[in-house]
Amino acid sequence: MAKKIVIIGSGFAGLWTAIGAKRVIDLNRNLLSDQDIEVLVIAPEPKLVIRPRLYESNAANMSAPLGELFAATGVRFTQGIVHAIQTEKKKIEMINMAGVSSILSYDKLVLAAGSRLVRPEVPGLRDHAFSIDTIQEASTLEAHLRHLAALPPTQARNTVVICGGGFTGVELATELPRRLRAILGLDTKVRVIIVERSDVIGPSLGENVRPIITKALEDVEVEVKLGTTIKSVDARGIVTTEGERIETLSVVWTAGMEATPLTKQIPGEKDSMGRLIVDRNLRVPSSTDIFATGDAASALTDNEGNYTIMSCQHAIPLGRISGYNVAADLLKLELRPYEQPNYETCLDLGAWGSVITWGWQRRVMKSGATVKEAKEFVNRILIYPPTTAAKAFAFSDPDWVSPTTKTYLDPVQN
Ligand SMILES: Cc1cc2nc3c(=O)[nH]c(=O)nc-3n(C[C@H](O)[C@H](O)[C@H](O)COP(=O)(O)OP(=O)(O)OC[C@H]3O[C@@H](n4cnc5c(N)ncnc54)[C@H](O)[C@@H]3O)c2cc1C
Ligand SMILES: *[C@@H]1O[C@H](CO)[C@@H](O)[C@H](O)[C@H]1NC(C)=O
Ligand SMILES: *[C@@H]1O[C@H](CO)[C@@H](O)[C@H](O)[C@H]1NC(C)=O
Repeated sequence: MAKKIVIIGSGFAGLWTAIGAKRVIDLNRNLLSDQDIEVLVIAPEPKLVIRPRLYESNAANMSAPLGELFAATGVRFTQGIVHAIQTEKKKIEMINMAGVSSILSYDKLVLAAGSRLVRPEVPGLRDHAFSIDTIQEASTLEAHLRHLAALPPTQARNTVVICGGGFTGVELATELPRRLRAILGLDTKVRVIIVERSDVIGPSLGENVRPIITKALEDVEVEVKLGTTIKSVDARGIVTTEGERIETLSVVWTAGMEATPLTKQIPGEKDSMGRLIVDRNLRVPSSTDIFATGDAASALTDNEGNYTIMSCQHAIPLGRISGYNVAADLLKLELRPYEQPNYETCLDLGAWGSVITWGWQRRVMKSGATVKEAKEFVNRILIYPPTTAAKAFAFSDPDWVSPTTKTYLDPVQN
């Protein structure tokens, strides 16, 4: 009987785990004797959702099909949602799209089920706030924004409040003025307001990049209310803890992420976001048969004490290593420790341009309209799945070095 690697999730981490594992198996067929190793991905759809683009318009189109690539690379796919993991028995419980439950055994499991937005218990928030965490949520917001054009042109109609001034909040806010004007008319006076609890914009983005974000927000005329918390949300606006009321028909919640709840079913330490703390080989310390990767895992990136953050920047390289290691483990090859000392951010700033930072200090490498092209390259080309099996296997190699990104993203003199 074939051994089975089961991967939960077909996001950036799950995709590259699957193809990376298949690559190692194919390269080491001589070690297999007569026993094959099957690589199976379970996810709700054979698609890669391009979550980093969900602040843009046309949200419904922000996914890439994976069926053909899986077939071409020999990765098996089963459509379904995993709801339980029996670590002792090495089984998972899943439910398919018709609602039928089944149980599946694994030899090795990789949890790549990602993360999701957390909505806190703020009165009215769950009923009245939009979000852009999934294609469906972003499409609902988009349909709402389009519908605004049919309403009388009040201040409330022309105002959007974004709760949270982190990475997602800033990207959405800087993009919204032109999205709104495209819907409401180019002469419409639109108001986009970020409400951020912290005293600074982009609290986790560091102080080097802050002046640039601030300048971009000013230039595209996004207002920012710092040190402000939302007390309640209703159909006609929000109220802040200071008691200020802002009339708006459109509130978008962007703050706070948590790992997939499936992490709770695997014994072992979790971080404050519910991510499983994994060892350098991305294995869950409590079980020799389970790896965690992408947004579901917290892994050291270097020997300096830096941990992965929830980003594609980390999910793709994590996927390459979890794929390599889960297959290497079954083949009894040496595992490769995950290591990613360099951390780049590429933050979109709407019509203003974008900014690229380097390293954990987030030193600003380039910013403005001239680097917009780099962000578009990352978001529209680099992170999309390749079209051929050969390209996909090459990209899944832990030793992969991009010949193209270098020109855009290598550190350069300012
Ligand atoms: C609006 C927004 C903007 C972002 N911008 C950026 C950016 O500019 N740069 C950047 O680097 N990162 C950005 N990110 C973060 C980035 O999208 C994530 O870090 C990345 O998607 C993580 O990849 P992943 O594979 O771990 O998880 P995900 O992409 O979340 O994929 C998880 C997969 O698991 C599946 N799944 C979940 N639960 C189950 C289950 N129970 N059973 C089966 N399958 C399941 C899902 O359907 C999906 O296929 C952004 C995220 C958002 C939401
Ligand atoms: C959908 O996205 C793909 C990939 O970015 C793009 O090539 C295509 O033009 C988009 N389609 C529409 C209708 O926007
Ligand atoms: C992260 O790494 C940098 C070196 O790149 C180091 O200066 C810094 O202290 C590290 N951060 C943490 C939180 O350990």
